[in-house]
Amino acid sequence: MCAFPQTKASLDWSNLSFSYMDTGSRYRACYRNGSWDAHMSADKNITLPEGSQALNYGQQCFEGLKAYTTASGDVVLFRPDMNLARINRSARRLLMQEIPADIFMEGLERVVRENYAFVPPYGHGASLYLRPLYLGIGDNLGLKSASEFLFTVYCSPVGPYYKDGFKPIHLMVSDYDRAAPHGTGNVKVGGNYAAGLLASQEARQKGFAEAIFLDATTRTYIDEVGTSNFFGITADNTLITPVSSSILESITRLSLVEVAQSMGMKVEQRPVALSELENFVEAGCCGTAAVITPISHVTSGERTYQFGDGVSAGQMTTRLYERLLDIQLGKDEEFSHWLHKV
Ligand code: PLP
Ligand code: COI
Repeated sequence: MCAFPQTKASLDWSNLSFSYMDTGSRYRACYRNGSWDAHMSADKNITLPEGSQALNYGQQCFEGLKAYTTASGDVVLFRPDMNLARINRSARRLLMQEIPADIFMEGLERVVRENYAFVPPYGHGASLYLRPLYLGIGDNLGLKSASEFLFTVYCSPVGPYYKDGFKPIHLMVSDYDRAAPHGTGNVKVGGNYAAGLLASQEARQKGFAEAIFLDATTRTYIDEVGTSNFFGITADNTLITPVSSSILESITRLSLVEVAQSMGMKVEQRPVALSELENFVEAGCCGTAAVITPISHVTSGERTYQFGDGVSAGQMTTRLYERLLDIQLGKDEEFSHWLHKV
């Protein structure tokens, strides 16, 4: 058992949505003149100089990961080392100071500890979503990198990203591009998400759950969904997931690949043509927020691809989902090394 005070917030844990909640405490670390200065803050507002590069030129990046209460009552983070590595890949791409491992991990751990009341108890299908956010700040006008940086970690207790949870969704192939091959699609920077907002809104207005993007060069290969990676499963039990220079390398997808292999599935990581969708008997998307969400249909113009019976989640997708949840909830020996106890 963990050594936290055992009081919990009075929330309807089984019916949380994926939305922001002010939990009262967040981590702030400022990099200035070669050193880091960190503290916890009760203030959800951040005051920044108006010239800050994060505000004017999008010099900012972020991460997303979850804390879970395991079956035995521990509070764990899922593969935070991967988020650390990725935020520093994003930082390097945007010429930002790298975040030291001890600052990043201290931020995550203190936020989990000080917001323990908001870490959903075991058994409600909920988790504490952590949002490490990194900003270039300072008095600036011309286009150049900041020399001061603010790293913050805030959190919210969350339920499923798509309101129906593990229910198949229908996606629409977007006419917009989210990211270019040599651009920033492979790092987690806010500009990528701003670029996807209109596509997402259009898809929703037409009754789809979300947009799915094609490669920007040929518009014939699947890139990814706006907030998750894509995978398909063929009748011979092969899991196929796109490789592309403009998608975010999903930690959930990397994990799924290993889990699928351990379950005896073949795995192919390679470019996936849109036309190949007709070969898949199951499909899904995966990410921290989306976990694994089954996909029933993908519509591209006049053509709609259907996976399985078009209504229920596929058998292998369901098995992968259940195994991933077991791992995250500390019920799986083989991948227990992926959990970081707080
Ligand atoms: N792709 C995009 C664009 C995302 O925003 C996310 C979410 O983080 C993912 C993929 C999934 O990545 P991860 O599994 O690391 O959360
Ligand atoms: C995540 O899954 O952590 C994400 O970053 C998705 C977010 C854009 C909602």
